[in-house]
Amino acid sequence: MTDQDQRWGIIGGTGVTSLEGLEIKERREMSTPWGAPSAPLVVGEIEGASAVFLPRHGDPHRIAPHEVNYRANLWAMRELGVTRIIAVNAVGSMHGSMVPGSLVLPDQLIDYTWGRGHTYYEGQLEQTEHIDFTFPYCETLRQKMAESARRHGLPCTAGGVYGCTQGPRLETAAEIVRLERDGCDIVGMTGMPEAALARELELDYACLALVVNWAAGKTAELITMDDIRRNLEAGIGHVGQVLRDLMQA
Ligand code: HPA
Repeated sequence: MTDQDQRWGIIGGTGVTSLEGLEIKERREMSTPWGAPSAPLVVGEIEGASAVFLPRHGDPHRIAPHEVNYRANLWAMRELGVTRIIAVNAVGSMHGSMVPGSLVLPDQLIDYTWGRGHTYYEGQLEQTEHIDFTFPYCETLRQKMAESARRHGLPCTAGGVYGCTQGPRLETAAEIVRLERDGCDIVGMTGMPEAALARELELDYACLALVVNWAAGKTAELITMDDIRRNLEAGIGHVGQVLRDLMQA
């Protein structure tokens, strides 16, 4: 398969309900054996490349992280021929150099979520597979994004451990200390089971995380939605730049 035959999938996170530069061809209302995706899938072209966009929390933003139908979202993308996915995730940071407004391209994750539909291997199966998940993200996609960030001089850390919590509440200060002790650098609520489901479907998948706050207890101040919104606005242009570069390549 050449790069031209591949179709990109972009999953938008908090603050990303549309994709700048996407020339929309159609909106596909879909149903899957796992239920309905978060929203109609937006099919179009960006920088000449075929792409499908899906806002993870719906449009408008209304689905909480633990209620997102991750299985339906990825299934629907694959139905539309998507082969590689960039997942945009807003995160908090525990790491001094991963500052609010900057990007992180994690290379590992730890899953703290529970009770989410987290696998396609469920029900009356003839056979269960145990997917390898040693390296949860696609290295090629990570490297391409890192290169783009470097080229444009964007604030970006290539590497880090994403801790995925259940939400929708933010963490306690003690929980963040525990996550740090576990080796986490950033914390979010939507990275899992999405990454594992993508692997089960054999889709290339990488996370483009945007830091929108210091994690709980990392500063003297409490976390406010206003601060999160401000940092989202500050960093969302970087996300768009990296995505456009990828599509052009
Ligand atoms: N914790 C969990 N999820 C998040 C955070 C956070 O601090 N910020 C954005 N998503």
